Amino acid sequence: MFKADCKTCSRLATFLDNIKAERPDYFAAPVPAFGDEKPKLLIVGLAPGMHGANRTGRPFTGDFAGILLYQTLFDLGLSSAPVSEHASDSLALYGVRITNAVKCLPPQNKPETSEIRNCNPYLKSEIDILPVSCNLMALGKIAHDAILRAYGLKLSALKFGHAAEHMLPDGRKLFDSYHCSRYNTQTRRLTEKMFRDVLRRASG
Ligand code: URA
Repeated sequence: MFKADCKTCSRLATFLDNIKAERPDYFAAPVPAFGDEKPKLLIVGLAPGMHGANRTGRPFTGDFAGILLYQTLFDLGLSSAPVSEHASDSLALYGVRITNAVKCLPPQNKPETSEIRNCNPYLKSEIDILPVSCNLMALGKIAHDAILRAYGLKLSALKFGHAAEHMLPDGRKLFDSYHCSRYNTQTRRLTEKMFRDVLRRASG
């Protein structure tokens, strides 16, 4: 189960303590999942962004990476508003839940393998309580690998690829997308259409 005061990763815990000291208004703690409690789709990102989820306490909220995600959810009729502003706005997701492979902000947005591993039981517990027919969508390879790890699969078992669709051992489907990061969207590695097409299939 999610632990709001987890300090298992000493590097991350120290990093967050330092941020909290410098910026007392920042959330600077493990960021919980957000959205429908009984989803048809669980979207898994990488980790909170410094001035996004790490500031607001809601995944993909307050920084560039969330713009395309929340706009596309709205366009597909999966949410009540096109923008996620802060953790206490009235945004509702319909049949969708959003979480991260790593719940704490990592320095340079790069979690170490040991941190991904330490955090994996939290992701596993989120997956374990999903409705049986719920799909998963990985935003990027780190999320894809974290999902495989949560299922106890070898990382070579299912190959990450944008728009790839995989069958998981329990019959759920895993859809892959490039991460909706600023870099990927601004370089057009991930276009709005590419993202919408995967999200539509994953939520269908
Ligand atoms: N914000 C998140 O919550 N997750 C990401 O992967 C990127 C930004």
